[in-house]
Amino acid sequence: MSSTATILDAAKPIPERLVMPATDHLVDSLDPEPHPPDDAEDLPTAAVVFDVDAVSVYYGEFRAVQDASLKVHEHEITAFIGPSGCGKTTLLRCFNRMNDLISSARVTGSLCYYGVDLYNPQVDAVEVRRRIGMVFQKPNPFPKSIKDNVAYGPKVAGLAKKGPAMDDIVENSLRKAALWDEVKDRLNDNALGLSGGQQQRLCIARAIATDPDVLLMDEPCSALDPIATTRIEELMHDLKTDYSIVIVTHNMQQAARVSDRTAFFSVEVNADSDSRTGILVEYDFTQHIFSNPSDERTENYVTGRFG
Ligand SMILES: Nc1ncnc2c1ncn2[C@@H]1O[C@H](COP(=O)(O)OP(=O)(O)OP(=O)(O)O)[C@@H](O)[C@H]1O
Ligand SMILES: [Mg+2]
Repeated sequence: MSSTATILDAAKPIPERLVMPATDHLVDSLDPEPHPPDDAEDLPTAAVVFDVDAVSVYYGEFRAVQDASLKVHEHEITAFIGPSGCGKTTLLRCFNRMNDLISSARVTGSLCYYGVDLYNPQVDAVEVRRRIGMVFQKPNPFPKSIKDNVAYGPKVAGLAKKGPAMDDIVENSLRKAALWDEVKDRLNDNALGLSGGQQQRLCIARAIATDPDVLLMDEPCSALDPIATTRIEELMHDLKTDYSIVIVTHNMQQAARVSDRTAFFSVEVNADSDSRTGILVEYDFTQHIFSNPSDERTENYVTGRFG
């Protein structure tokens, strides 16, 4: 859909991801009041990828997330933490309009991607999902060959046809996902024959293959052993040079190890109506959240006294 491509291209016109976009609207979107960790005064303020402003998400009458506001920054890893049911996945799914696929889901407030309202009716959700890839909790390769898993997205998006151009995309994606050396001699084998950790890296390669800007990861390591988890964490660290990453994790050490900023969500219970809703309690640099949080609820959670 060309009108959509145009509206999103206007949002991020410069293909080289390492070049800081210099258009006026991006300068305007810089966070004016960051709270850098003590040892990071010299860090440049990264451009804002997502500006979430007073977002609430409903499933029918039920409000799963209430009034969340935060900014996700370019080439950073942003972690979402909090107890089960506080709306982490629900909010993450708003970033690439996956909630569109749930008929009862409704999003209010504003969610901008490089200044463009993702919920503008002119924006095509398929194009949004090409630019904003997702990796799920349970590795979910297609029951196809390793190569076809990676080639599927670029083929559907029309990025390349079968042949050397597609072979390059497959190889580069597998290399970026740190899987190439393990699978280069078995590209035509069924992906379901890979180990869980390899399958998850294949899913990351599949997400990278459509040349996205952002990777959303919903508990990507929860089904993996500690060695595979470490590999994915190292990989995330490498990938943030090229991508902006938002990760949901229940593993507090993981959030502290890999992320630059952390958002702590909790469940607020309304005693009168007995209704529950997810709220964003605190969002700051990860170092602050884990060493000196502003909110007592955050402190209780990160120190294990709650949740
Ligand atoms: N498709 C859906 N339809 C109706 N309610 C839903 C749907 N998906 C999630 N919910 C509800 O929305 C709330 C938030 O769910 P969500 O999955 O976002 O939480 P979460 O923080 O990701 O939890 P967990 O840590 O267990 O994954 C929960 O009360 C859940 O039951
Ligand atoms: Mg979840």
